[in-house]
Amino acid sequence: MSAKKKYPKDATTPITELRNELTIDIDVGTATDIARTLRQCDAQIFLGWKDFPSVLDENTIEAMDKVAEKAKEILRDSSGDKAIVISGCGTSGRLAYFLAHKFSQLAEAQQISACYDYLIAGGDIALFTSQEAPEDDWKRGEEDLIHLSRSKKQVLFIGITCGLSAPYVAGQLDHCMRHRDTFIPVLLGFNPVHQARKNPIEQWDKSFFDVANALEDYGKGIILNPVVGPEAITGSSRMKGGSATKILLESILLKAHASISQPRSVLNRLTEILLMYENMYRRTYLSCSSIACAIELAAKSLKSNGHVFYIGWGLKGFMGLLDASECVPTFSANFDDVRGFIEEGYSTLNNREGELMLTESKKLCISLEDFQSNFLPELTLHDTVVFILPDNKVVQEVTQLIHLIKEKGTQLIGIIFQKESELSNLFKSCIHVEGNHSSGCINEEGPSTPILLTDFLNQCLQEISIKWILNAISTGAHVLKGKVIRGLMIDVKVSNNKLFHRAISIVSTFARVDQKCALHAVLKAIYRRDSIDDVLNLQISEHVARGTVMDQVVPVAVLIATDKFSIASAMEVLRTSTVSHILKSLGLVE
Ligand code: F6P
Repeated sequence: MSAKKKYPKDATTPITELRNELTIDIDVGTATDIARTLRQCDAQIFLGWKDFPSVLDENTIEAMDKVAEKAKEILRDSSGDKAIVISGCGTSGRLAYFLAHKFSQLAEAQQISACYDYLIAGGDIALFTSQEAPEDDWKRGEEDLIHLSRSKKQVLFIGITCGLSAPYVAGQLDHCMRHRDTFIPVLLGFNPVHQARKNPIEQWDKSFFDVANALEDYGKGIILNPVVGPEAITGSSRMKGGSATKILLESILLKAHASISQPRSVLNRLTEILLMYENMYRRTYLSCSSIACAIELAAKSLKSNGHVFYIGWGLKGFMGLLDASECVPTFSANFDDVRGFIEEGYSTLNNREGELMLTESKKLCISLEDFQSNFLPELTLHDTVVFILPDNKVVQEVTQLIHLIKEKGTQLIGIIFQKESELSNLFKSCIHVEGNHSSGCINEEGPSTPILLTDFLNQCLQEISIKWILNAISTGAHVLKGKVIRGLMIDVKVSNNKLFHRAISIVSTFARVDQKCALHAVLKAIYRRDSIDDVLNLQISEHVARGTVMDQVVPVAVLIATDKFSIASAMEVLRTSTVSHILKSLGLVE
């Protein structure tokens, strides 16, 4: 028997940027294969990857406990000059907002005078649209934190960066360490510290690696970095990274809240909470075949230039907005390809900047009401609408809407949590997440105990289930559309420093060329010319500014790098064929 090849502990490519061996063939299977492959890949959140600590691991739980203890100290204080600030970029920032918002509501309901706040690189517009470049701005990260915490005497700062890579968060952690009396810094990510990003950060003398190392030695900070394994789509940290972020932070904060108001509750035991999430993971993927059916419908829509719309009621509707926003940079999707809407839009979300504008004259529509007035009339049989169904309270309203959509011939998918719902039959595909969601979190202190926290946890569990389902639908649909080859995003937007380097590595893999040759091909594709000598010495941020507004940078670059195409011929051939077909015909992909 051959010995299992060990993953070298000192390997330098971050685990979050590796290809996952489970998903290398994700693009050659059916929708069912995709759903089952994602199920396996998500299992690594709980089971772990290789011999690294997983989410369900003593080391992790110990670190989580420390954060929960700090959170509890802040929550207990009613002076108003202490806060818990959660920060991040892209999906990590959206989750920062979501958690801060939800836990503020919980604190209010518990009559705890907690102060939660959030920061997201690029501001509130980044909650709903992809704003990748602000992720590279370490200074802005620091300034945003200074501004937000100006009147606070003590701040528990939680910086999320799945890849241990975002300069925006690095600037904030560095600031925390320089202001020891005020800040307790926590770094949340999914790589070992030695794999933190070493690339220079523009206009700074530190890298993320420097900051993470300093934090390790700092004494007063906490690093929470279990390994959840490479993403199903290489580097797509919205998937496992986002899910694990939600699971870890909700568990920690729930424990902190429970320890104040229900000290004997099961919610004081992190292991028990984590096991409930694992249970929900299993229950969710029991619906693999209906998830596969939804993937097929969504893929059909995207392939025929239709749309996929998610609509939801209450805060769990935010899962739709969260999922939709990452399709643009990950798959170079158009903004309208996958969209999320939530009942009462901005009022439900209560984000800091309120209603947002997409352009100077165009509002960014996110409400169900916007959907009904602007999108519903234009629906066609090429579109798919996914209902994230609420509880029974609004059955009549939902039924009416379903009938209006049905009249357009549009495909309808429902995600339902109730045991029995009269709505199930109205959908072409219904994803029914079975089971009694309160079974795991029995209200063990008897009938007199408030069920607030139990209900809250059940909401959290439903949200993570929705996240897994929507991630599967949008990822699966884009895989079937040809936006992934051998587990790699073949049309990733080159819209920040990290994505610039990821693009080079993708080009190098497919064209089988070294990094330098791949870099030149990426630059040629960004500037759309065969000679790039004059731009070789520019800052990466300048390439990114240009790359962000260009289409098909990576497909064009891959073809150029094969040495068989010029810019012009690469663009010409991509007009009528896909990069996948071309690479197959060249024997570069099986
Ligand atoms: O740069 C884009 C992106 O990869 C998003 O897809 C992701 O949500 C965001 O960066 C944040 O990444 P991280 O959590 O690793 O900082």
